[in-house]
Amino acid sequence: METANGKLGVLVVGLGAVTTTFMAGTLMYRKGLGLPGGSVTQMAKIRVGRGKDRKYLKVSEIVPLTDCKDIEFGSWDIFPMNAYESAMNAKVLLQKDIDPVRDELESIKPMKAAFDPEYVSRLAGQGGNIKDGDRAALVEQLREDIRKFKSEHGCDRVVVIWAASTEKFIDYNPAVHSKLEDFENAIKTNDKANIAPSMLYAYAALQEGAPFVMGAPNICVDIPAIWELADKKGLPIAGKDFKTGQTLMKTVLSPMLRTRCLGLSGWFSTNILGNRDGEVLDAPENFKTKEVSKLGVIDTILKKEDQPELYGDIFHKVRINYYPPRGDAKEGWDNLDIFGWMGQDYGMQIKVDFLCRDSILAAPIVLDLVLCSDLALRAGLKGTQRWMSFFLKSPMHDYTQGEEPIHDLFQQYTMFKNKIRELGGYEPDEELE
Ligand SMILES: NC(=O)c1ccc[n+]([C@@H]2O[C@H](COP(=O)([O-])OP(=O)(O)OC[C@H]3O[C@@H](n4cnc5c(N)ncnc54)[C@H](O)[C@@H]3O)[C@@H](O)[C@H]2O)c1
Repeated sequence: METANGKLGVLVVGLGAVTTTFMAGTLMYRKGLGLPGGSVTQMAKIRVGRGKDRKYLKVSEIVPLTDCKDIEFGSWDIFPMNAYESAMNAKVLLQKDIDPVRDELESIKPMKAAFDPEYVSRLAGQGGNIKDGDRAALVEQLREDIRKFKSEHGCDRVVVIWAASTEKFIDYNPAVHSKLEDFENAIKTNDKANIAPSMLYAYAALQEGAPFVMGAPNICVDIPAIWELADKKGLPIAGKDFKTGQTLMKTVLSPMLRTRCLGLSGWFSTNILGNRDGEVLDAPENFKTKEVSKLGVIDTILKKEDQPELYGDIFHKVRINYYPPRGDAKEGWDNLDIFGWMGQDYGMQIKVDFLCRDSILAAPIVLDLVLCSDLALRAGLKGTQRWMSFFLKSPMHDYTQGEEPIHDLFQQYTMFKNKIRELGGYEPDEELE
């Protein structure tokens, strides 16, 4: 594997709450001023070797991970605010955690966005930092942005990650999304209904030799046409949707029910959230994209075909409510109706009230996904990186071949650790820790 020489450009689509929390936090951390809590690449210790030969090493001691000090940040957004102004506007981090890196944040000015108000209706008419042109012209401009950023910042490699608004739901359309040739024709003919702006960023990134990660639930890279491109270019891709609060809990609690053979009759999840993400998700067409991502989770862990008496009739509902007073401090409630010995007449309930901070949970995931994508790039791994499912709510998988996503957090962690072991020249295994 190539070592992590030189600088890594990290280009984030969207310079909102998640991105500025990620950038400010990483800048603070590399100055020795902040804890990278929640970042597995920075904090986890993974066992390598077995029996008396076993030792516990940090990820960077096993594989040649890029040092955070070698990251150069860039971004695109429809709002012209720099990263400092945007971090202040997002009100996630305290002034004391922004001021020491104010100069660096002020120097991160967003490039003009490839934006279509049809895809994020709540932001229509706002910002103004937007490129002109049809789909094909936008791709060319995005490619030029990546090349320019790379040369101006002296980067050896670039990773592009989407942390912009969730786009409206569009369905997989085999006539456009299954073959690269059809997909490229749709860009040429400016097919706005089937080519979302996020797809233009992904296509441009891959054409410029950069891995792409989708942090929202947008279909984007989760289509065979893009898998074909990633394969052709020999580049890694990953997605979709950062696994942060409620879904993280779901993928921990569901395996518990399954392994103890406890039944589930209903799971109701609701959230209140007051940041811009919450406002965008208040539009039904954008919420639909999120809903699909959030709903898929328990079905693959609690398989109704395997255990119809326990999981044959689950009522699963997810709601997100825009509630401005809370800002980024999301509150997620879950109610689970469960049963066991002697069936549903002896039902029980589990209540979870997670008072979280959305961007504080998402920022370390952005860092981990970026560093793992760069690692995959240098290791020559191409296509969908399933070992990164650990960080994602709706992990990509080859649905055209009937492959199923892995949602169980513990299975995902095993996949993650084994890939790190393998890339570090150790044997993958499942020995008890
Ligand atoms: N925070 C979490 O826990 C979490 C978890 C999973 C997914 N996400 C997703 O991450 C994304 C970012 O969340 P956030 O809280 O930072 O939202 P945010 O609204 O603060 O930031 C998103 C930014 O994207 C910009 N944008 C929209 N369309 C764009 C485009 N086409 N090109 C460039 N910029 C564009 C917006 O102007 C905005 O500044 C959302 O899609 C959200 O659903 C967040």
